[in-house]
Amino acid sequence: AFIHSLDRGQIVRSRVESVTLNVAKELTGKTVDNDQHVPPDHMPDMEEIALKYPAKSENTALERYKSDYALSLAKNKQFWQKRAAELITWDHYPYDENKCDDIMMGGFEFGDIAWFPGAKMNVCANAIDRHVQNGKTHQVAMIWEGDEPGQVLKFTYSELLRKVSAIANALKSQGVKKGDVVTIYMPMIPQLPMTMLACMRLGAVHSVVFAGFSSAALSSRISASKSSIVVTADIGVRAAKVIPLKKIVDEAIVMNDCKDIVKRVLVYERERSIASDDDAVPGDVGLSDNKINWVPNRDVNMNDLLPKQRPYCPPESMDAEDPSFILYTSGSTGQPKGLVHTTAGYAVYAAHTIQTTFDLQPNDIFACMADCGWITGHSYVVYGPLLSGSTTFIFESTPLYPDAGRYWDMVQRHKISLFYTAPTAVRSLIRYGDDVPKKYDLSSLRILGSVGEPINPAAWSWYYEAVGNKKCTIVDTYWQTETGGHILTNLPGVTPMKPGSCALPHYGIDCVVLDSVTGEIVEGDDVEGVLAIRGPWPGMARTCLGDHARYLETYFRPYEGYYFTGDAVRRDKDGYYFITGRVDDVLNVSGHRIGTAEVESALVKHPSVAQAAVVGRPHAIKGEAIVAFATVTESNTEDDDELVKELRALVRGEIGPFASPDIICITPSLPMTRSGKIMRRVLRKISTGEADQLGDVSTLADPSVVDTLIDLIGKHD
Ligand code: PRX
Repeated sequence: AFIHSLDRGQIVRSRVESVTLNVAKELTGKTVDNDQHVPPDHMPDMEEIALKYPAKSENTALERYKSDYALSLAKNKQFWQKRAAELITWDHYPYDENKCDDIMMGGFEFGDIAWFPGAKMNVCANAIDRHVQNGKTHQVAMIWEGDEPGQVLKFTYSELLRKVSAIANALKSQGVKKGDVVTIYMPMIPQLPMTMLACMRLGAVHSVVFAGFSSAALSSRISASKSSIVVTADIGVRAAKVIPLKKIVDEAIVMNDCKDIVKRVLVYERERSIASDDDAVPGDVGLSDNKINWVPNRDVNMNDLLPKQRPYCPPESMDAEDPSFILYTSGSTGQPKGLVHTTAGYAVYAAHTIQTTFDLQPNDIFACMADCGWITGHSYVVYGPLLSGSTTFIFESTPLYPDAGRYWDMVQRHKISLFYTAPTAVRSLIRYGDDVPKKYDLSSLRILGSVGEPINPAAWSWYYEAVGNKKCTIVDTYWQTETGGHILTNLPGVTPMKPGSCALPHYGIDCVVLDSVTGEIVEGDDVEGVLAIRGPWPGMARTCLGDHARYLETYFRPYEGYYFTGDAVRRDKDGYYFITGRVDDVLNVSGHRIGTAEVESALVKHPSVAQAAVVGRPHAIKGEAIVAFATVTESNTEDDDELVKELRALVRGEIGPFASPDIICITPSLPMTRSGKIMRRVLRKISTGEADQLGDVSTLADPSVVDTLIDLIGKHD
């Protein structure tokens, strides 16, 4: 029997304090054992299946994982049936271990995948109500820490139920009903996850847009999803900087066709929202001074509306395959795609992955530093931890505010046990030295997570030694907006760690390496190719909103029969996976996914720009930096420096500040083939200082462009 499920209670865990491991300076390729954790039970109680298909070896936890993993693929439907039955409280569940042939229908050819068809549940009721009903009334569900250290709010499960219910009723009073798309453009105040949960309660589909996106980006997302309700706040505050969110929403609504689409804008006043509880520590009096421009018959003040609402709202019983949320992400075209996730499959997968990857226990304080505007915030700030009945941590500020000790100060004060962040944040802290984390008591930490990009060995060592004191497992979790939850990761107490590697596939996920040209499976170890998945899993996105053809084209047509991740991968001699980068035109800047085509379309909006090409190049902290090249129109009379400034502002305005290029080169020409195609490979090599490895450039229409570009880039280095 090998699963821990909530109702089977705690697993025994040893905390061996004396384990010291020698981490060699160069860690790549070596494994690091971490045996503080007794291997947790990881899989469903599949005793009967296991009896029929006995494990070959039980010598080590890793061997056990391997046989369990093989079993989870061989008996995939039974596996997910068990997980679904254990993790979710269903309103209706027509499956059991003897009847689960129909638990998944459809496949990759048509993208008509359905998991648990006919079953019914509500995600919000699973994340809150059932814990209240199971006696967790007084357990803290959410800890919020605001921009200023010590500005803290805590909500028990029963408080959360009242708050979320009131928001759901407020939404209802404004006409929101099952199936409606609600756009949420909010700062990381508690009302952001609460509004997401309120939508889930009503069966409304939330579309959270990260509050760092510009008005133009917000507008295109509202327009594409035909979202008649937008929920926002007057302002956001990050590192003491005020972001005028309501003003940005107002700007967004006058663009595209949003004026006709948006019927209601529901506005939280940040200061009233975070001071509405008795235990609130007022910290930012005066920040809300900027007046809200209330638009009559459209804008509604949530802080006035909420006290009028009944603090209980019955949850809507949803079909397993009803859409639960949309999340926009970047692809290789200029148009972001709205990935649609489901109700039950997503919930099963978020709960399953957080519990196995992080060995999450009900008394854990789980702190994921992501913003709710990204998939990591959806799965591991909101849904994963709450579906598991643990305590989740919501952080409004940045790792460097007010100083580089912010994360560790919070770990110490809140006794955080599981901590999850991106390598870019770790790298930004390393330069302040080991002394910073040493000042704090970090002994509550058990597991450290990494997500969003490969973690380089130097960052890994620092995270492991300076933060984890060589006692915490680092889980390197690889996944995507599309996958809903972790796909590849090491597991604490099970998989020896290998710095820089996201280790091995998660249970139930059939990962394969494909030859990028032939599409054939590359067998064996010590191989390279592209990463693909050979079969549906419950947490995968089911379609792109309003464009199912694009969903098929992007994920299932490149390699027939497989889900294509878009990532290149190496599998080393031990079978460990190393992600080596995207193979499409998608960049990963500070863990944010940005399409080169999106930045290019922003640049060519400038009347002086004739053509633009964008590539990525390695950056010590951000992982990747954006390098843009632009040619100007004949009529352009602008000075280059002035133009560069305007182009930066343009990208900030079209996408958001996080997409602003690090380098913009105004060039007389771009490397074009004779047939008129831009050779990005040449731009990439020149940007990374590898102009000596340009390869074959005989197809270039004008080879002299290479020297011009080398000179231009040289001026920026
Ligand atoms: O390239 C991979 C990289 O991030 C991409 C997915 O980005 P997004 O949908 O924004 O989701 C980010 C958070 C899950 C992937 O295609 N990526 C994500 N995690 C890792 C990673 N690359 C290497 N190692 C990881 N652990």
